[in-house]
Amino acid sequence: MEAIVAVYSDWGIGSEGTQPIVIPEDRRRFAQLTKGATVIVGRRTMEDFPGGKPLKDRENLVITRHADEIEGATVVHTVKEAIEATKDCGRVFVIGGATVFMAMFSQLDRIYVTKIGAQPKSDAYFPNLDSLPDWKCTEEERFVSGEYQCSFCTYERID
Ligand SMILES: NC(=O)c1ccc[n+]([C@@H]2O[C@H](COP(=O)([O-])OP(=O)(O)OC[C@H]3O[C@@H](n4cnc5c(N)ncnc54)[C@H](OP(=O)(O)O)[C@@H]3O)[C@@H](O)[C@H]2O)c1
Repeated sequence: MEAIVAVYSDWGIGSEGTQPIVIPEDRRRFAQLTKGATVIVGRRTMEDFPGGKPLKDRENLVITRHADEIEGATVVHTVKEAIEATKDCGRVFVIGGATVFMAMFSQLDRIYVTKIGAQPKSDAYFPNLDSLPDWKCTEEERFVSGEYQCSFCTYERID
């Protein structure tokens, strides 16, 4: 299973239910990589999507302990259910937020990280993959977006 995330310099990913800084290059990469795939998303992150609705052009699997039905999505209530529901799917991306990234972390073998060289105040974080010995950055493309130094990094789990 794969994940995709945009992180700030301190590996913060969001504040008060949203992303304080977004860059268009990350939005485009997210759209390209996840179009047509299955995405696993937490209920809080889904609420921050346009109109608070699941994403178009993707199979949305929303994880929540509460709702039973969400229009345009398949609802799952546990990590186990999420894994079972994606068994026969093609490409599956965990797209956050912080709680869902942590809950699914052991299932991940590749993570697409957009690093944004800024440090707004965050209350949600992603694990610092550069400090974890079983993760390695295998590709990095640097670019500048407005005032920010950024990079697209692909991390792979090493055995
Ligand atoms: N930078 C990025 O790439 C990126 C990507 C996505 C999100 N974010 C940010 O991350 C933050 C949101 O993260 P968050 O941790 O607060 O929320 P979240 O992970 O999006 O959603 C949390 C909710 O998901 C459900 N959930 C999570 N784990 C579960 C489990 N094991 N079993 C059943 N249900 C589970 C629960 O829903 P119920 O309460 O309904 O039971 C929980 O309240 C926001 O600031 C957002 O902007 C950043």
